[in-house]
Parts: sequence; C-alpha cells; structure tokens
Amino acid sequence: MSAGPPLVAVAAIAENGVIGRDNDLPWRLRTDLRRFRAITMGKPLLVGRRNWDSIGRPLPGRDMIVLTRRADFAPEGVSVAHDWEGACAMARESAARSGAEEIVVGGGADIYRLALPLVARLRLTIVHAEPSGDVHFPPYDPALFREAFRESHPAGPGDEHPFTFLDLERIASG
Ligand SMILES: NC(=O)c1ccc[n+]([C@@H]2O[C@H](COP(=O)([O-])OP(=O)(O)OC[C@H]3O[C@@H](n4cnc5c(N)ncnc54)[C@H](OP(=O)(O)O)[C@@H]3O)[C@@H](O)[C@H]2O)c1
Repeated sequence: MSAGPPLVAVAAIAENGVIGRDNDLPWRLRTDLRRFRAITMGKPLLVGRRNWDSIGRPLPGRDMIVLTRRADFAPEGVSVAHDWEGACAMARESAARSGAEEIVVGGGADIYRLALPLVARLRLTIVHAEPSGDVHFPPYDPALFREAFRESHPAGPGDEHPFTFLDLERIASG
C-alpha cells in the first residue's frame, strides 16, 4: 500500500482465537460494539463481503468499502472493491476527502489476513471466553508489535463475557 493514513485493524478475539460463528459474532458484547463505533466513526472502513452480509446495512457515518470477487455485487450505500489494492486506493481517496486520520480494517478473517502485513496498529478486544466457532483471527508475529494500551473490564450490562481492550503498535515490518 502506498503512502496514506495508517491502516488500523479492529477485532474482537476470543482466547481460543475464534472471531465468528455461522457468519455472525459468537457473543453479545454491548460495550465492545460501542468501542467499535467510536473507533470507526468518520473513517473509511474495509470489510469482506461475508462480514458485510453479517452486518447487513451500511453503518452510518462510515465510508464502507466491501471486498468481493463478484462482478454483480452492488449494494446501495457502500463502495465495492474487487481486489486489495483497489480497496486501499478507495480508502485513501475517501480519507483524503473526509480528512480521516486512519483507515480501519473491520474484518473478517480474509480481510485481516490481507491487512496484517501492513497494519500500523491492532486495536483488539480479547474476549475472555472459549466459544465454538468457524472463523479465527489469522496468525501474526507478536514480536512485530508492542503493547500500547491495555484495560480489563468485567462484563457490564449487555456483555456476555469479561474482556480486555488491547492496542498493539507495530515496531517492525514483517
Ligand atoms: N470478532 C470480530 O471482530 C469480527 C470482525 C469481523 C467479522 N467477524 C466475523 O467473521 C466472519 C466473517 O469473516 P470471513 O473470514 O468468513 O469473511 P470476510 O473476510 O468477511 O469476507 C470474505 C469474502 O471477502 C471477499 N474477498 C476476500 N479476499 C478478497 C480479495 N483478495 N479480493 C476480493 N474479494 C475478496 C470474498 O467475497 P466473495 O465471496 O463475495 O467474492 C470472500 O468470500 C463472520 O462470522 C463475522 O461475524 C468477526
């Protein structure tokens, strides 16, 4: 990806690496949804087509760019990209228009995998549970990142599990 605002991945990951089940989230965590909204608001948001299906609507205040290989995919209210480079170019153009200071990668696993070699930051929610699931966060080398923020939370109202917010910043390429 050529110069532009930094790429930031946002993900909620269970202790066993699970991030999804039956094309949905395997938990209800109201506090984490609020954090996702705050992190993504006003920014370009890159998502895979399966994640888009799961969300089911354009998220207000965010310029969503959906990655798909399908030529006939054209939902209203979002941009569509057919490869990673094209998606990044659209996101950079969107950020240049809006003044957004970062581009957010919202998953799922296919899209995290494409972004991981490039992300400047990982903004993770570690969900303290081991749910069954069929989608996992892709492997990455923790030595390439340093811990920038950590905050533990008990399950609040609307949260099925306790969780920890963990921000990692890249310190080396790879
Ligand atoms: N816990 C979390 O933070 C979190 C976040 C996001 C999603 N999720 C969960 O993750 C699951 C969805 O993730 P997923 O990995 O199954 O799917 P995904 O990454 O959301 O989407 C995969 C789709 O993206 C398109 N795609 C992938 N690579 C592409 C490329 N190089 N060029 C063009 N298009 C490309 C393809 O769409 P086509 O098939 O249309 O070609 C592919 O089927 C759901 O369960 C969701 O709830 C969890």
